[in-house]
Amino acid sequence: MPISNDPATVLTAYQAWQKAEGIPVIRGFYVEDLRTVEVQPWARKGGRGVFIDMEGTGGTNDSYVCEIPPGGTLEPQRHLYEEVIYVLKGRGATAVWTEGGSKLTFEWQAGSLFAIPLNSWHQHFNASGTEAVRYYGVTTAPLVMNLFHNHDFIFNNPFVFRDRFSEEADFFSGRGTFLASRIWEANFIPDVNTFQLLEWKERGAGGRNIMFELANNTMIAHISEFSVGTYKKAHRHGPGAHVIILGGKGYSLLWPEGAKPTKVDWHAGSVFVPPDFWWHQHFNAGATPARYLAIRWGSVKHKLDEKHSKLDQDREKGGNQIEYENEDPAVRALFESELAKEGIQSRMPAVSSR
Ligand SMILES: [Fe+2]
Repeated sequence: MPISNDPATVLTAYQAWQKAEGIPVIRGFYVEDLRTVEVQPWARKGGRGVFIDMEGTGGTNDSYVCEIPPGGTLEPQRHLYEEVIYVLKGRGATAVWTEGGSKLTFEWQAGSLFAIPLNSWHQHFNASGTEAVRYYGVTTAPLVMNLFHNHDFIFNNPFVFRDRFSEEADFFSGRGTFLASRIWEANFIPDVNTFQLLEWKERGAGGRNIMFELANNTMIAHISEFSVGTYKKAHRHGPGAHVIILGGKGYSLLWPEGAKPTKVDWHAGSVFVPPDFWWHQHFNAGATPARYLAIRWGSVKHKLDEKHSKLDQDREKGGNQIEYENEDPAVRALFESELAKEGIQSRMPAVSSR
């Protein structure tokens, strides 16, 4: 292929692969509802799909939606990039195995979260004869493809990562252990909607949270929930945190230091990705608790960088969080006007000084 003189028009290895896959690509900051985006036939998977390529990833990780038709089975796959899967709708099963090994099969349904162990063979099945399955996958494919730019190495590599997966019979049982407060290590979460959360005072407004270390990945996931009439403190970190709204209604503000915020309105099924080190802040503007799942960089076990640290510490003291008393008064004013539209009372504590 001839190389253009203009570097801006040259595709990365990942972008070239994405284009060659022949399915649509949705770009931008935000997708309103992953459950209804249009999907097209995807030969590699044997189902239908669409890439959800959000600007806030900074090219570090990426995501897609895949649909499995009623009664359908996808093609077996393995790849040298990490993949975390959240089931948007339907129910089914996945078989996972390593080269020459025996298959482990586990069942899932809407709300399940799991990780495919790196480079393991896997195959997804739809267990319903009448309802399509839709799942959302977040992968580290951009980094891996751009580094190696060799599809045979990435999709046809016999190396087995025994340190990640050795076909342990209970690997996808849903059992897990607490590594530390609020950090749960497990490879399968049956339902992120009902998983019990723990208080995280420092992030504000009585919010609750749990983090998931999955399949010895460098990616991690977490759930946060915050009550009616409240909002979380603004914070910032590195790129690639895919925030998927599980329930509730509200909005988020996203802004680079010193700039005017962009407002993203969301509800169940929405996804957005705050760009690298942009401040972002989540507001519950609805009549029920707001809950989201984030799939992102920032594993605690396998740390990648320093960009996902001090997320709950005051920026005045070197942290990456804006305390309520230090935020722009327009933030509180906007929240109160959004609540007023819904006839909801603010439950935010008064701030002592501005
Ligand atoms: Fe965040």
